[in-house]
Amino acid sequence: MSADRISVAELQELLAAHRPVTVLDVRSPSDVDWEIPGAIHMDAYAELQSGRLGPLADLSPAQGPIVTVCGVGRTAGIATELLRAKGVAALTLDGGMRSWSLAWNTAQIMISGCQVVQVRRVDPDVYVRLLSERGWRLVAVADTHIHADHLSRSRQLAHLEGAALLLPTQNRAEYPFRPVADGDRIVFGSTALVGMRTPGHTAESTTYLLDNTAAFTGDTLFLNSVGRPDLEGGTPQERASRARLLHMSVSRLLQLPEATQVFPGHVSEAIAFDGRMLRTTVGTIRDTVALVRLEEAAFVQAVLARIPPNPPNHSRIVEFNERGELPGDPSELEAGANRCATA
Ligand SMILES: [Fe+2]
Repeated sequence: MSADRISVAELQELLAAHRPVTVLDVRSPSDVDWEIPGAIHMDAYAELQSGRLGPLADLSPAQGPIVTVCGVGRTAGIATELLRAKGVAALTLDGGMRSWSLAWNTAQIMISGCQVVQVRRVDPDVYVRLLSERGWRLVAVADTHIHADHLSRSRQLAHLEGAALLLPTQNRAEYPFRPVADGDRIVFGSTALVGMRTPGHTAESTTYLLDNTAAFTGDTLFLNSVGRPDLEGGTPQERASRARLLHMSVSRLLQLPEATQVFPGHVSEAIAFDGRMLRTTVGTIRDTVALVRLEEAAFVQAVLARIPPNPPNHSRIVEFNERGELPGDPSELEAGANRCATA
């Protein structure tokens, strides 16, 4: 790390190794839509812009360095400079939250004799590294739907590793892929994933089932909410009909055995570096998420009333994903929180 800066990879390593570090987020509260796990927030933006520490002057001494964070690293740089002038060991996160979108971590678990590795955040290089560390060969990359809140790297990863590229049957993707229809089996090793069509979030959204003991639900069912049904635009009637499809899909998922583990495509909170799987069970969702127990009409009404703001840049992200391409700097388009869930 340079004298007063720290890279995303270096901070990720400190957090993963549980080394002492204080992440200090100095963005205005209105700009905070996602965060680094464990970050403390101090709204000092305006003061820092005028060269004053403001509330940061009262910062109590911390173990390890203080890593200052803002949107792209500029205001945090002012904080670092002022803190260092007071003798505080401070470093600026290079590139701020925009660059943090490339940070990642993993968790793993055995299910039905399969080693399931959850990779949080996507970049083909990360998968290539994890595969080579384990001596694994990639046979297939299966996407759950055409994404609107992040750029899919499925096509690039499949290409890099010479693996099959699987997508739910649809006519949006403009590049070759192996279509997955409801009930299709994707055989690997001595087992298989089974595609289960779960439309609603998007028309093609598909869940992948492993032996009815695990469901990889993409953006259809989250740990404590369901996917939003409106991102494909359309009239209020069309949104309502997608919400009805979503109700049908969620109901179908909840008919799985209650111990079935649910692995969603995203979570809305910062993911801690604690190696814990982001998962729940069908039974827990049934017991704790009131929304999923509603009858169709009430479900549709509730879901449509809880639509969060559109993901920034979502129509450009969809265009890239339909073409199977990546822009020069992906972090410019996709930094931020998951916006595919209902609030
Ligand atoms: Fe999505």
